[in-house]
Amino acid sequence: MESLLIKGGVPLHGEVNVSGAKNAVLPILAATLLTSEPCVIHGVPELSDVGFMGEILKSLGAEVRQEGDTITVRAAKVKGVGDYDLIRKMRGSICILGPLLGRLHRARVSLPGGCIIGPRPIDLHLKGLRELGARITIEEGYVRACAPRLAGTDIFLGGRVGPTVLGTANLMMAAVLAEGVTTIQSAACEPEVVDLADFLNAMGARISGLGSPTLTITGVSELHGVEHRVIPDRIEAATYAIAAAATHGEVTLLGARPDHMHAVLDKLREAGVKVERRGTALTIRRGGRLKPVDVTTLPYAGFPTDVQAQMMALMTLTPGISIITERIFESRFMHVSELTRLGADISIEGPSAIVKGGRPLSGAPVMASDLRASAALVIGGLAAKGATQVKRIYHLDRGYERLDDKLRKLGARVERVEES
Ligand code: EPU
Repeated sequence: MESLLIKGGVPLHGEVNVSGAKNAVLPILAATLLTSEPCVIHGVPELSDVGFMGEILKSLGAEVRQEGDTITVRAAKVKGVGDYDLIRKMRGSICILGPLLGRLHRARVSLPGGCIIGPRPIDLHLKGLRELGARITIEEGYVRACAPRLAGTDIFLGGRVGPTVLGTANLMMAAVLAEGVTTIQSAACEPEVVDLADFLNAMGARISGLGSPTLTITGVSELHGVEHRVIPDRIEAATYAIAAAATHGEVTLLGARPDHMHAVLDKLREAGVKVERRGTALTIRRGGRLKPVDVTTLPYAGFPTDVQAQMMALMTLTPGISIITERIFESRFMHVSELTRLGADISIEGPSAIVKGGRPLSGAPVMASDLRASAALVIGGLAAKGATQVKRIYHLDRGYERLDDKLRKLGARVERVEES
C-alpha cells in the first residue's frame, strides 16, 4: 500500500488546473447505458472510481475506450446483471440501476454497503423507482428490479436530511424513457445533477427545472449518442483553495466554476482569506490573520459536506473557536482523531465539532479513512512543521486526480512512498 510523505511548512504557490468532477462523471458514465449509440465524454479525470465505473460498464457488455481525458462508451448490447463484487466496491455504482431499468426494464445490482462516513441507505432511490412502476426486491445481497412498464408520475424524493444526489440521478435516468410525465419534488440541486440532466437532454431527453427542487421529465421513446464535457470539480477546487490558505500561499485555480462554489468562497472570505476572481480563474491568498468561522453542511447551495473535513483542517490553524456542524452524514468525523494526532484541539458534541484553533500543527503518521478525510490530513500535513505520513492513500486516488503531482507543482514537498 502507498502513503504520502509530506514535509510541511512550505507555502503553496502557482497555478493548478481543476479536473473534471468525479461526482458528475460517475452518473454520466452510467447514463451511457441508455443508448446503443456511442457517447463521447471529455474532461474525464483519471481516478480509480472512474476506472471502476469503466469496468462495471464493460462487465455489462459496453465497449469503453479511453484516450487521454476522453472516454467513449458504446453500449450496443447491455445485460441487466452487474458483477456483484465490482459494484459493491463503490457506492456511486448504484446509479446504474436507473438506466438499466429504463433501457432493459429489469436490473440486478448488488446492494452498496454502508461506509465509513455513515450508513448510506438507498431507500429513497427504491421508493422513487417503485412509484415509477418497478417491482423491487432485495435478495441475496442484490437489488432486483423489474418494470414491464415505467409510467410517469409525481414523486416526492425528500428524505430525513433533505434531497438525495444519486437518488435524483437514478430516478431521472429511469424516468427519461418512461411513458408520460414524471415530476420529482425535493430533487437535489447539485451542479453534478444539473450536468447529468444536460447530458441526458443532449441525448434527446426532455428534462426541465434543472438546478431547482422540482424536475419535470417528459418521457421519450429513445435516446441517441452525444458528446459532452464534464463540469470542473468544485470539491477539488475548494480543496486546493483551502490548502493555499492553510499554507500562507497564493494559488490560482484555472478552469474553475466559481458560480458553483459560492458557499465555500463566502466562508473563506469570512475567515479572512482573499479570493479574487477573473473569469474562470480564481486566486486564493491568505490575507492577514485568519478568523474562526462556524460552518454547517447543507444540500447545495449550502456548504458542501465534501468540504467539511478540509475546512476543519483550516480552522485548526485559526486562532479562536470554530463550530463545524455536519448535517448530511452523521458520522463524517473520522478525520477528527487523526487531525488530533497533528496537534489539533477538536471535540465532538453531537453533530458538531468544536475546534479550538491556533496552535501550530506538527507532523505525525496519520491514517486516511475516506476520501475527504484524507484531503483534510494532507492539508494538515502541508501546514504542519515536520514530516507527516498519510497512510492508505488509495482513498485519495479515488477522487483527486494526481494530487501529489499537482501539489509538487505548487511547491509542496510531497512524495508517494510504499508503506513500510
Ligand atoms: N439518504 C437516505 N436515503 C437514500 C439516499 C440518501 O436517507 O435513499 C440520505 C443519506 O444517508 C445522507 C443524505 O440522504 O444522509 C444525502 O445523501 P445523498 O444520497 O445525497 O448522497 P449520495 O448521492 O450517495 C453523493 C456524493 C457524495 C456526497 C453526497 C452529498 C457521488 C458519487 N457521491 O452521494 O460524495 O457527499 O452526494 O453531497 O456523487 C465524496 O465525493 O466524497 C462523496 C462522498
